[in-house]
Amino acid sequence: MSITIKTRSEIEKMRVAGRLTAEVLDYIKPYVKPGVTTGELDKLCHDLIVDVQQAIPAPLNYAPPGHQPYPKSICSSINHQVCHGVPSHDKKLKNGDVVNLDITVIKDGWHGDSSRMFYVGEPGIQARRLTDITYECMWKGIAAVRPGRHLGVVGAAIQKYAEANGYSVVREFCGHGIGLGFHEEPQVLHYGKASEGPLLAPGMTFTIEPMINAGRRDIRVLGDGWTVVTKDHSLSAQWEHTVLVTQTGYEVLTLSAECPPPPAFIAG
Ligand code: MF3
Ligand code: CO
Ligand code: CO
Repeated sequence: MSITIKTRSEIEKMRVAGRLTAEVLDYIKPYVKPGVTTGELDKLCHDLIVDVQQAIPAPLNYAPPGHQPYPKSICSSINHQVCHGVPSHDKKLKNGDVVNLDITVIKDGWHGDSSRMFYVGEPGIQARRLTDITYECMWKGIAAVRPGRHLGVVGAAIQKYAEANGYSVVREFCGHGIGLGFHEEPQVLHYGKASEGPLLAPGMTFTIEPMINAGRRDIRVLGDGWTVVTKDHSLSAQWEHTVLVTQTGYEVLTLSAECPPPPAFIAG
């Protein structure tokens, strides 16, 4: 398979899937409070997606090669967990935690994929700074998207900004093409050279989802086969949007009423 170029009508379906994905994140926000379990958050999102949106939570039973089927409908990654944290009714969020909730919705066959960081009560200054810088990293990557450039501009912008702020970029996981497939070509690296990678062209759709660590970039996978943590137990943050390459730049497909506004360095 190569990079697919979406048609106008396919892009319209991607917009619908993207909007639904963002609306799940809007919906769950008020429930992210000290004492709630990640299992409860998973159930709330599952029921909204299935019963209200009449869509499919893509993670549920997702089984890429070499993995056991993913057992839940969302990913919930707390503090030093990097990504793919598995929700559990035994895992209560506590005051000061920061948690990433990652939602992927399939509507009419098309995928939308987005994640946000949430504060549980009042996190400390370091967790808030990492969360903010990681959000800016994602937007540095998004803002670099323009047809005719190499895809490597995305990772180069993210790595530069993360490292200038004293943080490290996780290398083992990347963004991805998305459409009828959950994970399509290309791989969207969050580090590297601006002159590398395929040329961007209108109609490409992919995610940008940097995982940024306060400490070293090294990770390991827990015994559940899914949950990824920092080796040094330093805090990790992630934000994710699904993006379309347009004739002149980009369109973010996973925006909604309550998603945080772009940082000030994004014009318009
Ligand atoms: N949503 C994740 C991503 O951004 C993938 C989760 S796969 C799962 O690519 F199986 F862990 F859900
Ligand atoms: Co993704
Ligand atoms: Co995701």
